[in-house]
Amino acid sequence: MTELERTHDRAPVPSDWSYAPAPESRDIVSLRERYGLFVGGEWLEPRSGESYTTISPATEEPLAEIAQAGEEDVALAVEAARGAYADGWSQLAPSERAKYLFRIARILQERAREFAVLESLNGGKPIRESRDVDLPLAAAHFFYYAGWADKLEYAFPNRRPQPLGVAGQIIPWNFPLMMLAWKIAPALAAGNTVVLKPAETTPLSALLFCDVVRQAELPPGVVNIVTGDGRTGAALVKHPGVDKIAFTGSTEVGKAIQREVAGTGKRLTLELGGKAANVIFDDAALDGAIEGIINGIYFNQGHVCCAGSRLLVQESIHEPLVAKLKRRLTTLRVGDPLDKNTDVGAINSQGQLDQIRELVETGTEEGAEMYQPPCRLPERGYWFAPTVFTNVAQSSRIATEEIFGPVLSVLTFRTPEEALEKANNTAYGLSAGVWTEKGSRILWMAQRLRAGVVWANTFNRFDPSSPFGGYKESGFGREGGLHGLEPYLRFE
Ligand code: NAI
Ligand code: MG
Repeated sequence: MTELERTHDRAPVPSDWSYAPAPESRDIVSLRERYGLFVGGEWLEPRSGESYTTISPATEEPLAEIAQAGEEDVALAVEAARGAYADGWSQLAPSERAKYLFRIARILQERAREFAVLESLNGGKPIRESRDVDLPLAAAHFFYYAGWADKLEYAFPNRRPQPLGVAGQIIPWNFPLMMLAWKIAPALAAGNTVVLKPAETTPLSALLFCDVVRQAELPPGVVNIVTGDGRTGAALVKHPGVDKIAFTGSTEVGKAIQREVAGTGKRLTLELGGKAANVIFDDAALDGAIEGIINGIYFNQGHVCCAGSRLLVQESIHEPLVAKLKRRLTTLRVGDPLDKNTDVGAINSQGQLDQIRELVETGTEEGAEMYQPPCRLPERGYWFAPTVFTNVAQSSRIATEEIFGPVLSVLTFRTPEEALEKANNTAYGLSAGVWTEKGSRILWMAQRLRAGVVWANTFNRFDPSSPFGGYKESGFGREGGLHGLEPYLRFE
């Protein structure tokens, strides 16, 4: 026996194998007490005189005072964007535009930890995700579109691409910085200027982004950020000085926006809800599929429009798969978003928690069987345990409505035709997943699934070069890739 082995031999066996807390330090983030509106490169006090408090959903701790922009404020922002568009941005050599975008991408990378901590603090998502997914993808989007800025003539040959003017952009709270990047990067690359409104519960990373805009020395007015709730968004949609609206959020608001812009000549893209089918065939590698299912629905507490919220399992493997899934659920760690060991963080808001609770109640009432692993939820803040429903009827609310929380509904099928029919039996069409070892079956399914994105033997994978967007009530228009530039261009 070596000395090392002897030491190991004598080491006491831990009595408790649970993870010790590993919180990420908050010190890197410095918050102001109150924030104004970022208009024309300056911080303006809101003319509305209104503000509200943004909190951490994990603790309900107040973080900062945020301006609630009114119509007059929105008008100032649009004016600043128009001015910047006419005064230079639209005429700037495309290679110069690219330089700014590359600069923003690099600054985001340099300040990634600060942004990741802030994103988790204000939004409740696990730091592991904001650090490893949101931030790298946000920077990647700027890098990607920076590369296209001076190649638009090649991207759209013989079509003479021209910018539209001012883009009004309204984003949700589930991926605050990433959604900002998805909106701002292609708009600027195409030569537009923007007024962006972050979601009311998660304004802080967009406000920190204003710092990046200044650091990159972007000409004033090219990017303007107005904070506030749906009223601010509505004012932006209505403003006659906006040439294009890009919206990501609920189907309900998306429809209202579509009605509002009808007949105005404004361009519109909508990225709305989803109820994605994640289809598991009996020849799939089960352990891998389990990880994909977990990532598909518990990633970001299920606050994901393309979440794999409807699990379709081939009947012959239903029992072993559900047993494995339940066992895996018991290993998910729910808690402090800033803890590096956390898998499932806080629900983003009281309102979202209420919606999840209401829908989950209907699940039990409608006869489905609910499973939640034993886990202790923090007393303060907004929390919901990872949940699986089995015995779910096709027509039940939990199988048809978007829950936008960590709740999975399991259904079964027998044949590929039945899987396809059930998968497509939805008002939405944003994404889908297929798990099988047969390439031919993947292709057969992918050609027939009515969904903008189909993942094969994986789920929730993103890349800036790959277009993303929906069918039916999931909206229209694509973000990402060359497709994502088109909505910001007109062709002569
Ligand atoms: P929402 O659609 O109300 O909010 C999204 C954004 O739109 C926010 O910035 C909000 O301030 C803004 N907004 C609200 N009303 C508006 C209006 N009349 N005109 C212009 N902008 C407006 O979504 P909410 O209420 O936060 O969530 C409700 C449900 O919507 C969720 O439970 C989920 O099912 C779905 N949702 C889907 C998202 C997606 O990524 N596709 C993102 C967020 C929510
Ligand atoms: Mg709403």
